[in-house]
Amino acid sequence: MAASGRFDISVHFIQLLVCCAWLVTNSQLAQSAPIKITFDGCIPGFANNKTQYCCPPPYKGEIVDFCPKRNMSKPLRVRKALQCLSGHELKVYTEKLDKAYTILRNLPDDDPRSLNQQKRLHCSYGTGGFVQQGTDNITIDIHFSWLFFPWHRYFIYFHERIIQHVLDDPEFSLHFWNWDNGFTVHKPKGARSGCYKRGDLLPPIYNITGMGQYQNRSSRTKLPGLPVDLGIVPEERDNPPTRPAEVVKPRNLATMHASMVTVGNTTRGFMGRIYRYGDYQVLDPLTGAGGLEVMGHASIHWWVGNTMGVVETSAGDPLFYAHHSNIDRLWNNWHKVPGGERVDYSDPDFLEAEFLFYDETATIRRVKVKDALDMEEFGYKFQKANDISWIDYVPTVNSTSNSTINSTDSYKPQVHFPTRWNRD
Ligand code: C2O
Repeated sequence: MAASGRFDISVHFIQLLVCCAWLVTNSQLAQSAPIKITFDGCIPGFANNKTQYCCPPPYKGEIVDFCPKRNMSKPLRVRKALQCLSGHELKVYTEKLDKAYTILRNLPDDDPRSLNQQKRLHCSYGTGGFVQQGTDNITIDIHFSWLFFPWHRYFIYFHERIIQHVLDDPEFSLHFWNWDNGFTVHKPKGARSGCYKRGDLLPPIYNITGMGQYQNRSSRTKLPGLPVDLGIVPEERDNPPTRPAEVVKPRNLATMHASMVTVGNTTRGFMGRIYRYGDYQVLDPLTGAGGLEVMGHASIHWWVGNTMGVVETSAGDPLFYAHHSNIDRLWNNWHKVPGGERVDYSDPDFLEAEFLFYDETATIRRVKVKDALDMEEFGYKFQKANDISWIDYVPTVNSTSNSTINSTDSYKPQVHFPTRWNRD
């Protein structure tokens, strides 16, 4: 196209027509279709100034639809707060993690159930590695939009099933890292099974050298008693300062209050931007993500650091799944926070969006967002924990980044044409 500098009115006119036709189709599609993927459209992604090669191994089987359905004859499994496990239960869970992650780390590299391939799947989905079905080059990102919560619910659910399978333990549950809870409180009268201990420290059972769930993480995570910092801003992500407890504890509360209660009091403010077929990825989280994703969620990735700190490797750290189990819990509990408009999107392009995952038999499963919204259909629930400290928090200090989030959709399309020839 750039080869001829000659002005030719007819060519110009045709180009204009083609362009308009594309625009019309594109905007029609954009208003009327959900995002879907095939694994065939996998290309190198891009993140952190690098091309990322993470495509899953070529797949030859059939894609099998999957819809979670609760088995009513069984009680719901309980995903518990890690900091409240103790005694025999703690010991058994630590050993299960060790065994499971040792197996997942040692599966052949091309087995989609291996920890390495689960990491790579998250990398492909999170760096624009997958092309939207029906387009040539419009890539998908499952972060910074309404896809964030349902995609990660499915991802860790299939991870949990893979662990159940390798342990031959159908009751295995992904206990959660309750990092949002910085305060130990008295059990409320009448409460039976809740967890009321603080959970804002790195869970020690993930930090035992030599165990399968161990990963080399930032040295700050090894400082005894240092609470997590939910106020890390993007500019600090590569090397966050180690802020003391007096600074981070009140600010963590403010950040949680903002993401769950104030910024999070609308569907857009909590779940992130609308994202349909034909829409481009946003490369800037602040214009696309909901409050919890961009504040607490991202800060935890950066605070843990090393492989957890970047999208291309984060899901290779077993702690990712305990972190996202808490995100899953917070999404569920968000609906119950008083006040505001706390309902999931009901737009058909949200409900009908489709993802692919590998299950425990290495079969590809096609799932829809609409089937992810009722958590109990998956057969698990969460132990009650102390959310009340951030629900009832009265803002006195500013949380760091909430001022940049607003509830209007400030999405600006950004053209992102990855190169297709350099296949992984
Ligand atoms: Cu896909 Cu915590 O990120």
